[in-house]
Amino acid sequence: MKLLVAGGAGFIGSHLLEILENNSDIETVVYDNLDTGSEENIPDGIKFIKGDIRSSKMEEMFNEYRFDAVIHLAAQTMVPASIENPSHDCDVNLLGLINVLENCRKYNVATVLFSSSAAVYGDNLNVPLKETETLNPMSFYGITKMSTEHYLRVYSEIYGINTIVFRFANVYGERQGAGGEGGVVSIFAKLLDENKPFTVYGDGKQTRDFVYVGDIAKAMVKGIKLEGHHVINISTEKETSINELIEDFEAASNTNIVVNYETAREGDIGRSVLSNELMKSKLGFEPQIKLREGIVRTYSWYKSKGR
Ligand SMILES: NC(=O)c1ccc[n+]([C@@H]2O[C@H](COP(=O)([O-])OP(=O)(O)OC[C@H]3O[C@@H](n4cnc5c(N)ncnc54)[C@H](O)[C@@H]3O)[C@@H](O)[C@H]2O)c1
Repeated sequence: MKLLVAGGAGFIGSHLLEILENNSDIETVVYDNLDTGSEENIPDGIKFIKGDIRSSKMEEMFNEYRFDAVIHLAAQTMVPASIENPSHDCDVNLLGLINVLENCRKYNVATVLFSSSAAVYGDNLNVPLKETETLNPMSFYGITKMSTEHYLRVYSEIYGINTIVFRFANVYGERQGAGGEGGVVSIFAKLLDENKPFTVYGDGKQTRDFVYVGDIAKAMVKGIKLEGHHVINISTEKETSINELIEDFEAASNTNIVVNYETAREGDIGRSVLSNELMKSKLGFEPQIKLREGIVRTYSWYKSKGR
């Protein structure tokens, strides 16, 4: 199989490439403008083309490589940036997407797998949230993710392309930047490494569903084999409060962490946990890395390379 990973030089892409590097059945090409990604994340054996998903360079590449499948990770990924600059968010996340999809249509790509987000659900207490819940995004980032899901559904309906939507919960792990969507684990790992106190906005009882990035990568390799149109949460279905997360950090590092509680941030969601029933039944997959083990991996990475 010939596979394009758009946005493969980023955090999630880097873990996917670790798996693909050793998969002789898949010939991988990475396309990325290195906006937030890094060439260091791309193993030597994998072909890298530098470019923007909005550019006409994409078509030259699709014409040359004739991909069977595309994993689309390239995006403007920051919620606050989408609020500050909705035009840029829309430009990259929707116009860029349409350029990817039009090339998939023209060059007969069989399957597109897309990295959506829990941000499409908004603040919904009917947890664990199933894929059938009404979507109510609370940011422009969430809106472009939701719109992308509809584009994929309609591309599947009109052109018969297999379109797989993965709604990721809070992804964390080595190589994550401290500014992205699920960045609290990285932020804490960095603070711990620098022996600084943690700042928590609110009482720390707000919950998240933390899923280790290596598990996300494994799920994607399974996901590109599906046919038809699918929307699947990729999550642990475990609700962890920020206070519990800090306890895990203390246990993982054997330290007492000083925590400063500040006023809750406006728009912060109280509870977030996604059902993973569909993930188990459609992919035959369950996350393997427990939160404490994932914290150890992330913290060790910060200690060795994060400074
Ligand atoms: N990290 C999370 O918790 C999380 C959760 C839900 C969804 N996602 C989604 O997963 C995908 C990957 O996220 P990530 O955390 O690895 O982020 P990341 O910023 O590390 O990776 C995104 C990659 O896309 C590239 N890119 C950005 N704009 C581009 C453009 N115009 N043209 C070409 N390449 C471009 C960047 O250089 C980077 O390598 C994104 O779509 C993100 O929205 C992430």
